[in-house]
Amino acid sequence: MYPQALSHRMFSLFLTAVFLFSGVIAAPVVLPRQSITVLSTAQISTYTPYTYFASAGYCNPTVTQTWTCGANCNANPGFKTVASGGDGDAVQYWFVGYYPATEEVIVSHQGTDPDEILPDLTDVDIVKVNLDSTHFPGVPSTVLVHQGFADAQLKAADSVLAAVETALSTYSATKVTLVGHSLGAAISLLDSVYLPLHLQSGITYKTITYGMPRVGNQAFANYVDADSPIHLTHIGNKEDPVPVLPPLSLGFVQASGEIHIQDSNAWDACPGQDNDSDLCSTGDVPTVFEWDVDDHDGPYNGVTMGC
Ligand SMILES: *[C@@H]1O[C@H](CO)[C@@H](O)[C@H](O)[C@H]1NC(C)=O
Repeated sequence: MYPQALSHRMFSLFLTAVFLFSGVIAAPVVLPRQSITVLSTAQISTYTPYTYFASAGYCNPTVTQTWTCGANCNANPGFKTVASGGDGDAVQYWFVGYYPATEEVIVSHQGTDPDEILPDLTDVDIVKVNLDSTHFPGVPSTVLVHQGFADAQLKAADSVLAAVETALSTYSATKVTLVGHSLGAAISLLDSVYLPLHLQSGITYKTITYGMPRVGNQAFANYVDADSPIHLTHIGNKEDPVPVLPPLSLGFVQASGEIHIQDSNAWDACPGQDNDSDLCSTGDVPTVFEWDVDDHDGPYNGVTMGC
């Protein structure tokens, strides 16, 4: 899927990344294996429907249930699309619908290729911005996020909120689950901060993301951790560099809730923010020399992201 040879762009990216990582990463601390929880096969398989929904974010379903792509989009039987949007270009595709099997409203945003997202994650001039106060009333001004992600989330925010309200009332649902991969993961994490600020109380939320970059600063990560509605799980695959970007040296931090997939395909639950155990993304991918962009799309328990 990706060219083997490094293009000029990738090479300059590589040099930028070497620069960013140099001197800022201490020797990895190897923590005892038993302190990190290994998920059982049964626990891993509970994520599979959400993996398919995250992959389906790359598709463009219509309200008539016609999906423009195959197996990953149609893997969860009975799913009812309520609304969809985006154009796969200026606005990432998104969809909102109802999944009868778990009685959840699902929100999914399309991701992007590593060679499109990496330049936005390694740019030394990344701008961090406050969340828009109209859409995010009451979020402290210390909370800063990547400007590109904030812009991408705002483009669909009003439409997604309206669709979630319609889905909740149409199906008398009380659960909202947000999913996404890559850029779509970042947008869904921002949606998971946004939606509870506008929807009625009594809704329970879950956020499950794949190959998610660091979205904001320490105050943002703390807000996500402290704000109990969000319930984040972010799954990082092997040596995918995206979960460890933008680098800690630029002031970006992952919230808690990490699951890291090992080379053995074991899934480990990593406590804390940016756990530096080598069983977790931050410890496993400490420098650009460990990067493998081919790991970005998965497979996540057998499911490869994309349309
Ligand atoms: C990483 O996980 C270990 C094992 O559970 C834990 O003791 C440690 O505090 C975690 N590190 C961080 C930075 O959260």
